[in-house]
Amino acid sequence: MERAAIILAAGQGTRMKSGLPKVLHKVGGRAMLDWSIDLARRVGCSRIVTVVSPGSSALHDHVGNEVGPDCIAIQDPPLGTAHAVRAAEESLTDFNGDVIVLYGDTPLIPASAVEALFAKLDEGAAVGVLGFRAQEPGAYGRLVTSADGQLEAIVEAKDASSEQLKINFCNSGVMGARSDRLFRLLSQVGNDNQKGEYYLTDIVGIARAENTDCRSVTCEEQDVLGVNSRVELAEAERAFQQRRREELMRSGVTMTAPETVFFSHDTIIGPDVIIEPHVVFGPDVRVDTGATVRAFSHLEGAHVEEGAEIGPYARLRPGASIGQGAKIGNFVEVKKTRVGEGAKANHLAYLGDGEVGANANIGAGTIFCNYDGYLKYKTKIGDNAFIGSNSALVAPVSIGEGAIVGSGSVIVEDVSADALALGRGRQVEKAGWATDFRVRKAAEKKAR
Ligand code: UD1
Ligand code: CA
Repeated sequence: MERAAIILAAGQGTRMKSGLPKVLHKVGGRAMLDWSIDLARRVGCSRIVTVVSPGSSALHDHVGNEVGPDCIAIQDPPLGTAHAVRAAEESLTDFNGDVIVLYGDTPLIPASAVEALFAKLDEGAAVGVLGFRAQEPGAYGRLVTSADGQLEAIVEAKDASSEQLKINFCNSGVMGARSDRLFRLLSQVGNDNQKGEYYLTDIVGIARAENTDCRSVTCEEQDVLGVNSRVELAEAERAFQQRRREELMRSGVTMTAPETVFFSHDTIIGPDVIIEPHVVFGPDVRVDTGATVRAFSHLEGAHVEEGAEIGPYARLRPGASIGQGAKIGNFVEVKKTRVGEGAKANHLAYLGDGEVGANANIGAGTIFCNYDGYLKYKTKIGDNAFIGSNSALVAPVSIGEGAIVGSGSVIVEDVSADALALGRGRQVEKAGWATDFRVRKAAEKKAR
């Protein structure tokens, strides 16, 4: 059966108090809406329609780029969740298959929960609903079930009796139905309720009145955490981080203080990697088997190969590629630079727009001067070269294999392989000068 997803994102999100549409706020470095889009893709939805309000061009552009401009449906004005799903009907007139409804503000739903929902449809349910046992059911819609496991109705908290409010089995918002049936049921939904809205949740009662099966699937409350405010955004972030840390530890990653390590949605860490406390992984980082990331390091857009050692206090920026067994030590920043196998930059250096050969040694205080205020230039360092401490390599410049740069040099011209390059004033020594100086100065002072 073909699958489609309708993602609801036309709500105002006023409680975020933000100029940015709520669903574009990020969890694990990825917009919440993109989590929903990704989920839809992972469960094999061939069509994904996002329902948005007419206002936000940022949101329209985002959906246009992520899924395609024809995957946007406009709901205007927002008259409730059923009304929102109906706004997607036109985009799916040529679609015949299973549809799931997702929210754009519920980023952590596991694919397995949605698969279980589709399975209920395969077993013949007219409507499937993803539910959870809530600690505090509060404002959630309540799932009313019968003894034989039939889902009888969903009652919104505002419309619930005091008896129904005691139910802690709640509606996550995720629902599934066959497309033809879904839109037929939706056309029967009215707005005679406390909020005067068209509730998507009403389709369950309507389907039951037609004597068809409605079924629920249960997931963890954490998996369906919806974000309405920045406080809830932080909660979702915390839940994501917690989940990712545990997954990585289970896959063979050692973390001495996991609660202080932060990942992005796309961080890839190989087995037997050791991550010390207080490390942040921005987007697009891969760390291969057996590497060590020491305390207080910050990585983004970087690839660290097997057995390399990063930090403590290292910063890897986009385009940093650290070869096998290489070492990037404290207060070293690497950007758009390949550092070859076994090379070392152990302390206080900036390596930007460069190439460092295998087993090269970059001394403390070395700077790749890559920028003249207008353009950026490359620094190339050959295999086994040795750059003495506190050298400024003014790009574009290239240091040959095995060459040595004397410390304190300012290198503005290419250096040949195996040569010694010195780019500094020559040392001069004057015997006894200091003694003469002291005698002269002491006399001057006394004469005043
Ligand atoms: C909804 C459910 C409730 C469930 C809860 C889970 C209904 C009637 N209620 O309530 O049973 O427990 O979610 O979080 O469905 N939206 C639109 N257009 C609209 C209204 C909403 O696109 O006209 C979107 C919102 O942007 C949001 C989602 O639908 O992504 C849910 O809307 P919201 O108003 O937050 O629903 P709840 O009252 O939380
Ligand atoms: Ca909500």
